[in-house]
Amino acid sequence: MAHRVGSPGAATGRSVSGGDAASAELAHATALIDAVERAPEPQRPGEPVDALETALALAERTAPDLAESLRPVAADLPWRSGYAARPDAPGLERGLKWAELIGPVAPWRSDSVCLGLLLLAPGLFYPPHRHRAVEVYTLLVGETTWTVGSATRRLRPGDIVLHRSGEAHAMRAGADPLLAIYTWTGDVETASTWCEDATNPKD
Ligand SMILES: [Fe+2]
Repeated sequence: MAHRVGSPGAATGRSVSGGDAASAELAHATALIDAVERAPEPQRPGEPVDALETALALAERTAPDLAESLRPVAADLPWRSGYAARPDAPGLERGLKWAELIGPVAPWRSDSVCLGLLLLAPGLFYPPHRHRAVEVYTLLVGETTWTVGSATRRLRPGDIVLHRSGEAHAMRAGADPLLAIYTWTGDVETASTWCEDATNPKD
């Protein structure tokens, strides 16, 4: 059940779904990120992202410090897509993009933590999926309908969400694009699977 906790959410008025466990996981991921080797590996160019400019413009209001840091490099990040089309999620194959900055195959290599950005086009549905890694999302842009397990709620920029290992989760972007930061810890090698079958959505 989602609820408000002391740190880090209450200090900034943010809602933290997952409570103290979310805060602890975020601190755990941050410590792992701090230990990542600083020299990046070369990457192939990223894909163009239609909603990126809109998301950056909105981020200047909802996450101004991050927007200022992101803007000069945002288009050059290793944006990827690759989810197969689904009848219950029109546009998924081109409207969902992620840019992984730290991870097993990211520019900054780590086998213990991933850090990246997720961008969903306005209105796009990201169907229920799960993975072994523990995940924390920090929502930067876009009011979003967010389901974790059987609980669905409306999240705002600044809100934080914990997905425990194997816990099903799904998101639907609202009128604006969704832009969020995610971290993975634990088993970061095993990709997501859709909840209704064993199809890998991220190959
Ligand atoms: Fe996830």
